[in-house]
Amino acid sequence: MADARDRARRTFAGRVIAWQAEHGRHDLPWQQTRDPYRIWLSEIMLQQTQVRTVLPYYQSFLIRFPTLEALAAAPLDSVLERWSGLGYYARARHLHRCAQVVAAGDGRLSADAEENARLPGIGRSTAAAISVFAFGRRAAILDGNVKRVLARCFAAEAAATAAQDERQMWALAESLLPASDIERYSQGMMDLGATVCTRHQPRCELCPLHEICLACRDGRQAELPRRRARRVPARRLCSLLLLSDGRRILLERRPPVGIWGGLLSLPEASADSATAFAERHGCRLLSSRALTPIEHSFTHFHLTMQVLHCQVEALGLQANQAPLEWLPVDEVAAAALPAPIKKLLLALPRGG
Ligand code: ADE
Repeated sequence: MADARDRARRTFAGRVIAWQAEHGRHDLPWQQTRDPYRIWLSEIMLQQTQVRTVLPYYQSFLIRFPTLEALAAAPLDSVLERWSGLGYYARARHLHRCAQVVAAGDGRLSADAEENARLPGIGRSTAAAISVFAFGRRAAILDGNVKRVLARCFAAEAAATAAQDERQMWALAESLLPASDIERYSQGMMDLGATVCTRHQPRCELCPLHEICLACRDGRQAELPRRRARRVPARRLCSLLLLSDGRRILLERRPPVGIWGGLLSLPEASADSATAFAERHGCRLLSSRALTPIEHSFTHFHLTMQVLHCQVEALGLQANQAPLEWLPVDEVAAAALPAPIKKLLLALPRGG
């Protein structure tokens, strides 16, 4: 058993590197640059999000914010607008904050992974990826895909605690780093995890680790990596009001932290309070109807949103009263709205 593990260790990196050269991905836009800003941005967008989803956002973000200075100088809302639909908005808030911190210093991301890991939104693996891809430094990455490859190849069993699991996996990842070709190796690990050693139905026949993989040898691909018992996601219910005067919709800026932090969304208020709510905001309620509830899953809970669609007549002047803002209907598509809310608003009949 120890022999099989040692053999796997000895040939692991070489196999990944050779496979990447022949079968890995070479034409992703962030592979065509060494600009730390562009690489950092790609790594943040790629956290918990697949490459094909990221691609259009990456391009559009760089058109709007071509440099770290441009990002640092922009208002958060314009950053959230470009992020709208990509999800996990804390990433965008941290990205913006991080750009400001870096711009206030010497304006550059460091080559040193430990230093970058102290910045907002940059964890250990992302910091390593920046060091590797932008600076050619030797550092271990360990995102979900890489963990899966390692856990299967070395049949890593679950330790007593999640923290011990983490420590074990980091130690393994560090111990396997090649002396050279670090970029190809790191990209190869990501490519393998994303395209071959997939969570379901891994394509072991195409894998360069096929001959050394302990999970493959013992037919344990489906049970590795071991998953810790997850709590059943909580279910939450909320009531939202969609007030529209035919031309505009009343939205509420969400608090800066928490779900959809900093985004515009529908105000949370019960259906019973719709008349009073409308009056408080200078409107008279003309009619209302309940829409089909929207279901949305977050990492830790599931949210059902009950939306009351209210036609209102705007009486007198209605300046925006923070955190409430009137948004013209034709600005919905470009606004920093959560994806399910934007979808709902875009599906409303014009004038509704
Ligand atoms: N996932 C995380 N980082 C990545 C990268 N640089 N290329 C492809 N997928 C990734």
